[in-house]
Amino acid sequence: MVALRSVIVGCGSSLPARVVTNDDLAQRVETSDDWIVQRTGIRQRYLADASETTSVLGIRACRAALDDAGLGPEDIDLVICATSTPDHTFPSTATQIQAGLGIHQGAAFDLQAVCAGFVYGVATADKFLTTGSARRALVVGAETFSRILDWEDRTTCVLFGDGAGAIVLEAREAAGTRDDRGVLTASLRSDGRHREKLYVDGGPGSTGTTGHLRMTGKEVFRFAVGSVTDVIADAFRSSGTTADELDWFVPHQANRRIIEASADKLGIARDKVVLTVDRHGNTSAASIPLALDVARKDGRIQEGDLVMIEAIGGGFTWGAALIRW
Ligand code: ACO
Repeated sequence: MVALRSVIVGCGSSLPARVVTNDDLAQRVETSDDWIVQRTGIRQRYLADASETTSVLGIRACRAALDDAGLGPEDIDLVICATSTPDHTFPSTATQIQAGLGIHQGAAFDLQAVCAGFVYGVATADKFLTTGSARRALVVGAETFSRILDWEDRTTCVLFGDGAGAIVLEAREAAGTRDDRGVLTASLRSDGRHREKLYVDGGPGSTGTTGHLRMTGKEVFRFAVGSVTDVIADAFRSSGTTADELDWFVPHQANRRIIEASADKLGIARDKVVLTVDRHGNTSAASIPLALDVARKDGRIQEGDLVMIEAIGGGFTWGAALIRW
């Protein structure tokens, strides 16, 4: 043994009960199924009712991930919840999830990197696990973005959905080579100069209100395709792998056109791209673990597969992680 690796030993997800199609939205704002599908690839999304809070969705996803791993609450000593839509300003949604699952040991905290939150969460948990500070972590992306949308603004309200996805990471001894199972490398970036392109116009320390999401879609699009691929190139370089060796590319599910343009730019074949934006919409920090769970459960992702996750979110924040499942 020369290294500890953070190995994914289980995954799970949870979606609200209510499905909302593009045609349903067209009853509410001036839009059409054609416009939304053509520009984004989104066909439907799930929207939470009042009882389906971020922590409720997060608890369900974590419970499913624990069941998948064959583990119980006593086995977890770290809970990281990536969210921008916490139930409350405080306490953290992670502690709500911890309590809901009956986990009474270890630490729990929220992590806020908007749509890049899950990648940030995986990178953070990996540091705890590979330094021996924790043994098993739940990393959950959980969101109710429907609560911060301006439902009069057709340029944003058609893009997002609610949901949660979770993985269990376990510290395991490994050889320290690129053939190991687990997180092989992670690369994170942020640049706060881009705040105005994607933000929420409220908050407890400024307006005292929750606020609504505001976005200059074209600028986000340009940045997502033009600049974000640097972290993926970093991940390939530092792990000594190439796009050809990748089994699955599981990017943040914001927009089909962004995903396909990024894959093309990186030389990742389209049939290796996991796409769930059509059915989930953009669920922010939840989108990657939701997509991982779909691809794991339908048999695409197998043990030993090389998987790249990648996301960009408000800030901007962005990141990528290369994981052998
Ligand atoms: N339905 C119908 N028409 C619409 C809608 C709508 N929902 N929204 C905008 N339009 C109209 C506009 O008013 C405009 O009309 P005009 O030409 O008469 O002025 C026209 O459609 C074109 O609008 P654009 O904003 O230029 O459309 P664009 O092709 O840029 O597509 C989109 C907009 C889909 C938002 C695109 O810019 C995009 O995908 N950007 C990336 C942003 C993103 O995915 N963000 C997700 C959050 S960020 C993240 O997750 C990282």
